Amino acid sequence: MISELLPESISAYLPDTIQLIYLVATAFFIRGLKLLNSPATARKGNQLAAIGMLIGVVVTLFDQQIVSFELIIVGVVIGGLIGIVLAKKVEMTAMPELVAVFNGFGGAASALVAWGEFARATDITIFDSTVLVTTGLSIFIGAITFTGSFVAFGKLKGFISGNAITFPGLNIINIGSMIGVLVLIGVFTYDPANMTIFWIIMGVSLLIGITSVIPIGGADMPVVISLLNSYSGIAASMAGFVLGNNLLIVSGALVGAAGLILTNIMCKAMNRSLANVIFGSFGGDGGTSGGGGATGDKSVNETSAEDLAIQVAYASKVVIVPGYGLAVAQAQHIVKEVASKLEAKGVQVKYGIHPVAGRMPGHMNVLLAEADVPYDLLYDMDQINPEFATTDVVMIIGANDVVNPMAKTSPGSPIYGMPILNVDEAKRTVVFKRSLSVGYAGIDNPLFYEQKNQMFFGDAKKSLQALNEALNEV
Ligand code: TAP
Repeated sequence: MISELLPESISAYLPDTIQLIYLVATAFFIRGLKLLNSPATARKGNQLAAIGMLIGVVVTLFDQQIVSFELIIVGVVIGGLIGIVLAKKVEMTAMPELVAVFNGFGGAASALVAWGEFARATDITIFDSTVLVTTGLSIFIGAITFTGSFVAFGKLKGFISGNAITFPGLNIINIGSMIGVLVLIGVFTYDPANMTIFWIIMGVSLLIGITSVIPIGGADMPVVISLLNSYSGIAASMAGFVLGNNLLIVSGALVGAAGLILTNIMCKAMNRSLANVIFGSFGGDGGTSGGGGATGDKSVNETSAEDLAIQVAYASKVVIVPGYGLAVAQAQHIVKEVASKLEAKGVQVKYGIHPVAGRMPGHMNVLLAEADVPYDLLYDMDQINPEFATTDVVMIIGANDVVNPMAKTSPGSPIYGMPILNVDEAKRTVVFKRSLSVGYAGIDNPLFYEQKNQMFFGDAKKSLQALNEALNEV
């Protein structure tokens, strides 16, 4: 212990000082979370939260010497290097997979901490019932988060089928197993010497993680990942009780609450309940195929770069609606160039952002911020919807479900009730995509076949580059 190395007059104040510094770290976390509220301040928020984490780690090391400093430094260096490489290499579109892995390791860490604390005790009678219950809960939630997150990762990466893999009665088995584990945690609290119960809690929880995520379609993985993120926070909070560490309790609770709020926002934006996501076996592999599509006998109007350049250059108001395809094509920089060129010609340009456009919360905001699109040009769905009626041209770039009128008109459709961008109220819509194939929800889009709609087929980046050049001639 560091306290043993300090003079007695100082070490007597150490526990209180540490709690005080934990409070400061907590303030950094809360302020950081608040700043994440807006794209303009999100970077600063992230930095503040990271400083809070650094304070937490350093102070904890002064508090308890659990393993040698050398080992901790080696761990920090290796972990830090892996973090830097991942952050630099991972594509924006692969962020949900990365978050899934982070959650999985977070859950595993909490379960291991609780297990380690229990295993290293020479006398388990020193544990009171709060520590025993939270040890059981930490292992239960941490183990579910670990295996569940890796199944989610496998589904997103395509290692595991994105289809809902299920059989009748699986939901009942899952719910029954969860109740069973909670009962076993009660038994474990009463009889902590019984290691068979301990191992059953661990084993069944690991299995529940697999069996509860495998029946969820790949299409719903972003929501599942957000939920697992919340679980990893709750598991960390439980581990905080086991260790008697206030900072871990608070930061875990913050992650748990933030994850739940985000899950709720995503469900609301898709007009689905969480129960429907978890038990509904909705969606397949995310509809990312490039060819085919449900064209039937219907015909579409096509446009070209030259045609479109004339339409937008002589418009007074143009709204750009970005979607998942803009991220895939990495067309954020060129879309900004096109917008700037239009603004230079006196056209009013705005961006309409749907809350679940793309594949993760805030996907479009992050993407456009990367291209330095001014934040004040980004309009939320509620702000932009009343403006479509006075818009000359809406350029829908790699978006599909978020502008699909079936959400309003087809009660049988999987997206029925999902709030959408009312682009069909504009004078003209132009859809940039490679084919007539479906989006994430796997359904056809009647907007493509409307008389006032035009399709601009091709990769979004190439199409925008062609438009950008054509604008020079207008
Ligand atoms: P989608 O409906 O998935 O449509 C994306 C479209 O982009 C596809 O139809 C595809 O058509 C096109 N595309 C792909 N690559 C392209 C490229 N290189 N160039 C041009 N186009 C390309 O996307 P959306 O409208 O953004 O909707 C998001 C969906 O994700 C919603 O259903 C939402 O519920 C769901 N979801 C989102 C989230 C979050 S938090 N964002 C979470 C869970 C679920 P082609 O193949 O024909 O090119």
